[in-house]
Amino acid sequence: MIESNIAKILESGTILQEVTIKGWVRTFRSNRFIAVNDGSTIKNIQCVIDFENTPEDLLKRITTGAAIAIKGTLSESQGKGQSVEVQVTEIEILGDSNPDEYPIQPKKHSFEFLRENAHLRIRTNTFSAVMRVRSALSFGVHKYFQENGFNYLNTPIITGSDAEGAGEIFKVTTFEDNKAPLTEDGKIDYSKEFFGKETNLTVSGQLEAETYAMALGKVYTFGPTFRAENSNTTRHLAEFWMIEPEVAFMDLDGNMDLSEDFIKSVLTYVLEKCIDDLEFLDNRLTQEDKTKPQAERSEMSLLEKLRFVVDNNFKRVSYTEAIDILRNCKPNKKKKFKYLINEWGADLQSEHERFLVEKHFKCPVILFDYPADIKAFYMRLNDDGKTVRAMDVLFPGIGEIAGGAQREERYDVLVEKMKALDIDEKELWWYLDLRKFGTAVHSGFGLGFERLVQFTTGMSNIKDVIPFPRTPQNAEF
Ligand code: 4AD
Ligand code: MG
Repeated sequence: MIESNIAKILESGTILQEVTIKGWVRTFRSNRFIAVNDGSTIKNIQCVIDFENTPEDLLKRITTGAAIAIKGTLSESQGKGQSVEVQVTEIEILGDSNPDEYPIQPKKHSFEFLRENAHLRIRTNTFSAVMRVRSALSFGVHKYFQENGFNYLNTPIITGSDAEGAGEIFKVTTFEDNKAPLTEDGKIDYSKEFFGKETNLTVSGQLEAETYAMALGKVYTFGPTFRAENSNTTRHLAEFWMIEPEVAFMDLDGNMDLSEDFIKSVLTYVLEKCIDDLEFLDNRLTQEDKTKPQAERSEMSLLEKLRFVVDNNFKRVSYTEAIDILRNCKPNKKKKFKYLINEWGADLQSEHERFLVEKHFKCPVILFDYPADIKAFYMRLNDDGKTVRAMDVLFPGIGEIAGGAQREERYDVLVEKMKALDIDEKELWWYLDLRKFGTAVHSGFGLGFERLVQFTTGMSNIKDVIPFPRTPQNAEF
């Protein structure tokens, strides 16, 4: 495929070359200068037309949002703001865009407004930059695992299990409203369901991933994940993408090493691959910061933050140590936290996680060895009988970006735990089989892809880093 795009033309910069460009008009000024963008780069290319020899009715059709094709010659720019421009020899309007109706005007729009126009917001600088970074991050994820001997695994999207046991599931059903067949005692007869049982959309591919790790050694999933959490926060989506590596013969220390190495490697990749977009986003945030009161401004720019994470070790702290810090910290004593930390065993909220990361340690933190009572059934019980080998990776501005554990590999301990939590052994017979046949230490974690995109791009709302967000009361597009 021979192709040319604005990124390639600007990169080559060869003066006097004949170029063909197809893209969308960003702005048109003085009846002469068209800023064209084709999505290949954050940069527009300036195309200069000879307006005296361009018919009036064609000039009128060069409007923001219109699709155009241009032929011309690349030349050194006379004006400020760009080093090269295109002297247009031919111009064709491929698709008009009525300026009175086109929502994306060349001015600042609020993110709320752009969310309502998610099908067009990608034509703005900010969203095109975010989505190119998202794409590169996802390639970086595959690159890291593929180069490190992991096998990519697709776990089922429709499943009978609720791996996290949080009950925040979307049901999958083929029964029609009010026509579900009933059993003799009047309950819905799920044996007549499509799958012969109750099913839901997956909340995590972990349990299935464990079965593959116990045969292929190192695996990872990267797929859509669904949670009916009714929390409309800046960090939660009902449909998001999760990356879940799972490794046989690896303990929790190895798991922490893997999460740190993985995140650093992916960030290093995008810092190189997407520097233009990241510089744009960095600048956007710096401008936004200037409008905030001094106390709320961030100490580091976006690029500084990314480089800081790549260059520094994550701090590893046990839950017990963290609770001591939190109990005695100023916001707790002065009752500034919404949820006060009084005793060991309390579940940590995002405000606590962010305090540890942003104010106390001032670097990414991995918390480990949480109380068994606040974590999922599959985590390995420590010898103290009350904590489990869990870990959460906490990031500035985000809070929890990844969560994982060393898995309970002992059959008897796991069965006991399931009994205590009323988890049906018959439903998870295959999961228990792993503990019967060749069981071994193994670990893994799940990283929320959108939270990683949020951190990398500095976008404050998770709805702005996924093309079409699914949240309570919203499934438009
Ligand atoms: O901590 P979670 O619930 O862990 C699991 O699901 C494990 N089974 C993972 C594993 O060990 N393989 O979710 C993992 C990550 C969170 O740290 C968070 O980044 C992200 O998934 N996440 C969400 N992201 C966006 N919207 C939501 N509603 C999310 N819920 C979790
Ligand atoms: Mg978690």
